[in-house]
Amino acid sequence: MDAAIGASTSTTAAEGARVPVHVAIIMDGNGRWAQQRGLPRIKGHEQGAESVRAVLKACRRSGVKYLTLYAFSVENWVRPKAEVEALMNLLKRFLKSQEHELHENRVRLRSIGRLTDLPRSVRRELSRVMKVTEHYREGNLVLALSYGGRTEIAHAARRIAEEVDGGTLRPEEVDEAAVAARLYAPDIPDPDLVIRTSGELRLSNFLLWQASYAEMYFTDVLWPDFREEHWMRALEEYARRRRRFGDVEPRS
Ligand code: IPE
Ligand code: IPE
Ligand code: MG
Repeated sequence: MDAAIGASTSTTAAEGARVPVHVAIIMDGNGRWAQQRGLPRIKGHEQGAESVRAVLKACRRSGVKYLTLYAFSVENWVRPKAEVEALMNLLKRFLKSQEHELHENRVRLRSIGRLTDLPRSVRRELSRVMKVTEHYREGNLVLALSYGGRTEIAHAARRIAEEVDGGTLRPEEVDEAAVAARLYAPDIPDPDLVIRTSGELRLSNFLLWQASYAEMYFTDVLWPDFREEHWMRALEEYARRRRRFGDVEPRS
């Protein structure tokens, strides 16, 4: 199709430029993975935590600076209480077990979402690990927790309304930049690549604002099976995409 894609003349620098800065993943399929094995759903979530560890390593090796993981959506609260509790406990265990790794690799932990929804013990652990890693700049791991794209945009709209009401913002100052500046983590660049596992072809309320020009990559692989080889495949596919951003020629 595109002769330039496979051309061996492409320079290393050009290929380097096609590594995404920010990859966001909708980690889906844990329940089905467990079900296929006759195991309780939580076993799928536990195995999914192993995939997170593998992907964190792969991410560092590929030079991707930001990794956002959709770990729990605002919609996920409707799941059976036992599953929600198990997920929250798993999250706490993950934070504890991953702390050393974050220090070692100078990775900053961040989070986006309606964090006040989370149980106090999870919030405490999350705040603690975010605090002790906040000075790291090698990489950024962003956990989307009780996250919903619409909730995030509505929250930004409310802040804007309050500021207009308070007289610190004029209506004519409300533009895209003003909205973006009031999202959960305005300094994080938009995702270049959004990966969804398990064969589902939807966004499920993930980064609705930020993903407006992201490249989408869908795979049938269930999240608990996702490893470095699958990550590499997604990045290779991304490198072949031509991002035009509305223009007639690709913009690098
Ligand atoms: C994704 O796996 C994990 C969360 C949503 C927390 P699921 O639990 O949604 O797995 P499936 O989609 O039921 O297989
Ligand atoms: C999306 O997965 C949320 C997370 C991966 C945390 P879901 O499994 O909740 O999505 P739907 O309900 O199938 O759209
Ligand atoms: Mg699912």
